[in-house]
Order: sequence, then C-alpha cells, then structure tokens
Amino acid sequence: MWHRALPVSELTENNAQRLTFDSQDVCLTLIDGRVHAISDVCPHRGASLSEGIVRDGCVTCPSHLWRFSFLDGAKQADDRTRVPVYPTRIVDGVVEVDVPPLPPQRSLREVLLAHARGESLDERRAM
Ligand code: FES
Repeated sequence: MWHRALPVSELTENNAQRLTFDSQDVCLTLIDGRVHAISDVCPHRGASLSEGIVRDGCVTCPSHLWRFSFLDGAKQADDRTRVPVYPTRIVDGVVEVDVPPLPPQRSLREVLLAHARGESLDERRAM
C-alpha cells in the first residue's frame, strides 16, 4: 500500500529520517538523488536505524554498528540477515513509500506449528 511520506525537498543526502506507516517504522534517506526506504528496526536488538550514520549506500546501526544496505537490505558481511526494503516513488514532489500491511498477529502456538512445518515466518508479527 502506497503511503504519502513527505516532500522530497525535506530529504537531504545521507541523512536518515524515521516515519511511521500503519505502526511500522521506516527509515528514509536520499542517496545520489534517489529516495530509499528500509525498515527502521534493526533485526539485532531493535534499535532505530534512522539514528545511525548513512554512508556509501548503507546505514550503520547506532547500537552495535551492524551495517545494512539501502539497496537490498542486506547486512554487510552477512547477507542472510536483512531488513525489509520498500519501494519508493515521487508523485508531485512528495515521496511515497510502498509498505505492505502487517499480517495478522499469530499466537506462539501458531508460530511454533508453522516453524515445525517448515513454513517461513513473518517476523513482523511472530511472538
Ligand atoms: S541493535 Fe542494531 S546492531 Fe545491535
């Protein structure tokens, strides 16, 4: 679902901003004139990535210095760990971000059963 974020003129190169859409925190930045958006929640311990330093297309988490690419969400030196990447577009000078709705919350029992069946887990709603 596309969400209107902010005027593109409010973004500056290599500065991250946090915005929230449907209870999901998103980290936005401008790199070489292009808008990028990833989840703002570090998968390590949940720190806000928008409080980190943006450099060379990556953001460094302020808590324990893990680095994530804005292009594919991959953690540097460990691409099995990723943050979600969201498509962006500019409509009439306003940045829009395509953030999917959260899946319904599952109980711990449902999560464990799904894991036992080998189903992928959406960690955004797993307990
Ligand atoms: S919370 Fe981000 S690296 Fe630890």
